Amino acid sequence: MCGIVGAIADRDVVPVLIEGLKRLEYRGYDSAGIAVLDGEQVRRVRRTGRVAEMESAAQSEGFRARLGIGHTRWATHGGVTEANAHPHVSFGELAVVHNGIIENHDEQREVLRAKGYAFESQTDTEVIAHLIHFHQSQGADLLAAVQKAVQELVGAYAIAVVSKREPGRLIAARMGCPLLVGLGEGENFIASDVSAILQATRQVIFLEEGDTAEITRESVRVFNAAGAAVERDVHMSDVSLASLELGPYRHFMQKEIHEQPRAIADTIEAVMDANAFNPLLFGADAENVLRDVEGVQILACGTSYYAGLTARYWIEAISGLPCSVEIASEYRYRKAVANPKHLIVTISQSGETLDTMEALKYAKSLGHDRTLSICNVPESAIPRASRLVYYTRAGAEIGVASTKAFTTQLVALFTLAATLAKLHGRLDVEQEGQYLDALRFLPGSVQHALNLEPQVTAWAERFAPKQHALFLGRGVHYPIALEGALKLKEISYIHAEAYPAGELKHGPLALVDAAMPVVVIAPNDALLEKVKSNMQEVRARGGELFVFTDEDSQFGPSEGVHVIRAPRHVGVLSPVVHAIPVQMLAYHAALARGTDVDKPRNLAKSVTVE
Ligand code: G6P
Repeated sequence: MCGIVGAIADRDVVPVLIEGLKRLEYRGYDSAGIAVLDGEQVRRVRRTGRVAEMESAAQSEGFRARLGIGHTRWATHGGVTEANAHPHVSFGELAVVHNGIIENHDEQREVLRAKGYAFESQTDTEVIAHLIHFHQSQGADLLAAVQKAVQELVGAYAIAVVSKREPGRLIAARMGCPLLVGLGEGENFIASDVSAILQATRQVIFLEEGDTAEITRESVRVFNAAGAAVERDVHMSDVSLASLELGPYRHFMQKEIHEQPRAIADTIEAVMDANAFNPLLFGADAENVLRDVEGVQILACGTSYYAGLTARYWIEAISGLPCSVEIASEYRYRKAVANPKHLIVTISQSGETLDTMEALKYAKSLGHDRTLSICNVPESAIPRASRLVYYTRAGAEIGVASTKAFTTQLVALFTLAATLAKLHGRLDVEQEGQYLDALRFLPGSVQHALNLEPQVTAWAERFAPKQHALFLGRGVHYPIALEGALKLKEISYIHAEAYPAGELKHGPLALVDAAMPVVVIAPNDALLEKVKSNMQEVRARGGELFVFTDEDSQFGPSEGVHVIRAPRHVGVLSPVVHAIPVQMLAYHAALARGTDVDKPRNLAKSVTVE
């Protein structure tokens, strides 16, 4: 988390830095700051809170410069204070911004203290600033000083450095955190992600692990971890500026909820007109990799983990392959029993979640070489470390609470289940046609679910004063209940828990009384009658039920039982449709409570630290 931007140009770069930081705010929004080279001086402005507050300060202090770096922070080491905000400086001579965590910062701090360096913050980043300064003071130029410094760091970093001793260049380095260089005409940039510099350029170089880069107005030189000059490919970004704008919407989350029919249609574009599931969707080598896998292990975090839990029902039911799903941060630290014939599937919207990346590395170290990444960000770290890739085409997701990324992950995973079934001879032509049709009809069904918004909004008004809520689902809809509870707690701060409805009587029923709203995902599937019995258990204890179902269930409202019906049961893809109302419920409950929907407290979208 944390966002970095930097620019060197023959014009004032301060507006570029500020605009870039606003685009990067989704990565962290505890504090923001910029440092610029103004003549012989390193000038810095930092503020806790949002970029807009720092922008006002920079304006009133008359910041203008042709070289500068900026940062938006999600606090890890040290509280949310101005002293801990980046950039960090050393002797007023050089400034550093950093994304990541330096694990050996305590040792380095002691070594630097012994050399006479004083520390003003509690951050690990200040260590980097002083370490670079130390190497400069020993005669190294800025590039060499950064290269020497990073060799002494243990941990993850993307950094950018400017020094008043060398006002014509910006030095960047990365290991474990994303960083790219943007190429302009007579001006160049660096950024954590391309959205930050899209207003200036679309041409980008993705730095690789261990790279350092020297960026001047006219040139970019990249060096690998061994210090050798290397050529890195130049990519043309196809991220659209419109996808980064709010348009007529009040929040990005609202926009992204409403974009789901389009996002799903784009993600399954290749199967829309096809008459078969083609393994090529997952990469050139996919048929070889997938044909003889004996099982599937899914690794992911947060909402992506819930997409994985949903997929397990599909993969086992449709392809007959055993499938387990595990939270990446748990898998990476346990002694797992590896079966190299199992396919490792990582799911990550951002493609840079540290725990998911480390879980993938760990799986590979155990001998897994069949790896597939389901990801929304092209060229991000996790797909680049995977043998096969399926890119969801949700477009930029900016709201911290994931919505369209989730439903597009679901359709990608359903496609995987069907493709595995086909390759394993478990999908006949008729069934294949039905699954393809189900996918083709899905964007329309999702649109119908979106049309339920006025009814969901009315429910949200009733939720707003509550402190707690329970979500229930069974079978393939249980993960949707989990996702509904996660959405509600993330953005409205109402405490919510989800259970498989059959588990109610084993504990959570003790919490049910008239003050506890119980949301039930109850479409007309094989488990509906079971779910109805579970609802009776709630009613018998005075609990109020809010039931999402479909027309086919014939389930109507009664005293203490509120019902919203999607038009018709869409069969196997029903979890995708039922994800929509729970997203809308969370969104409108948060609106009613007046929380910051797109930037919920304490969270960040891209979690590149442990
Ligand atoms: C953060 C985000 C969640 C997301 C999770 C995993 O917690 O706030 O929305 O689900 O990270 O992120 P990923 O990018 O790996 O899907």
